[in-house]
Amino acid sequence: MGKDKPVILTCAQPTGHLHLGNYLGAIKNWVSLLDDYQCYFGIVDLHAITVPYTPAELRKNTYACLAQYIACGLDPAKCRIFVQSHIIGHTELAWVLGCLTPLGQLQRMTQFKDKARGNDSGSVGSGLLYYPILMAADILLYNADLVPVGDDQKQHLELTRDIAIKFNNTYSPTFKVPEPYKQGSGGRVMSLQDPMNKMSKSETNQSGALFLLDPPDILRKKIMSAVTDTGKEIVAREDKLGITNLLNIMSAVTNRPVPDLEKEFTGQGYAAFKSAVADAVVALFQPIQERYNALMRDKEVLSQVLQEGAADAQKRAYRMISKVYRKAGFVERPSIEE
Ligand code: TYM
Repeated sequence: MGKDKPVILTCAQPTGHLHLGNYLGAIKNWVSLLDDYQCYFGIVDLHAITVPYTPAELRKNTYACLAQYIACGLDPAKCRIFVQSHIIGHTELAWVLGCLTPLGQLQRMTQFKDKARGNDSGSVGSGLLYYPILMAADILLYNADLVPVGDDQKQHLELTRDIAIKFNNTYSPTFKVPEPYKQGSGGRVMSLQDPMNKMSKSETNQSGALFLLDPPDILRKKIMSAVTDTGKEIVAREDKLGITNLLNIMSAVTNRPVPDLEKEFTGQGYAAFKSAVADAVVALFQPIQERYNALMRDKEVLSQVLQEGAADAQKRAYRMISKVYRKAGFVERPSIEE
């Protein structure tokens, strides 16, 4: 990784399997950045425990997530992939940043309100409220220039920028104020069963999400039963959310503009169109699944990737947290012999 190139950092939670929204809204875009930036990709396990979870599943999913990243094209020779809990500094920085962030700002975060909705406020874990601060720490700890995220994370990135500015004003210029990295298509892939809402790992109806590791017949079944309207036209329009979502998916998967697809499918029924979308998604996922299966048979390679990622990420993180502690007025820590 060229040390003079701008730094890109982004992360994803190792919860469950990655879906088409994660792929199109995130990983596919990350792959295109490897040659031009110093890229850090975090698997954020500390974020994953903000909602109820099973420890054994988390451990399994962390490896599965790493193998899926590599299978999707994140070449470990060109970037650093690390697990958040391996790096000392994320939670330390989060504490310092949290002390600068008004409680009201956290309570106004849409994702917090969504996730806390329906729960008695006394029973919601504090981690869910604190989550955006930890995300700010993930980004600022690496002094990232650019952060590629899907639309759902834009508000958290705005908060990160506010916090960076506040820290710089309170102490002295320390952090770069990170910019969102504008990505191409795929910023918001919607659920196949409820196209008003984004495709998500936690959907109650799992047939709304296309998982990277779903077998071809399941992918086809989910796409063929995607919710559409009663019309016939294959056009992207506000009153046709289901078809619009499928057109956007097809466009992002095949790298063809939506108007071209609308033209190609004029006069063809929904079934023919859905079948073409299914072919395109299966063709995209099949080679990824083959590479994933091979990687999961070789855990040593995966461990090695994490070790190299952690070594590099920790160096960068340590420099930043030391700087922050100095600015915050903490006495220099003594060197501790192991
Ligand atoms: P997470 O794990 O939910 O999602 C990972 C990435 O996938 C994008 N994404 C989508 N894009 C398009 N359509 C969808 N339906 C869709 N669903 C998810 C997300 O925008 C994200 O880019 N809080 C973050 C993880 C995080 C992070 C960070 C990200 C923690 N620290 C620092 C960037 C920088 C999250 O839960 O993403």
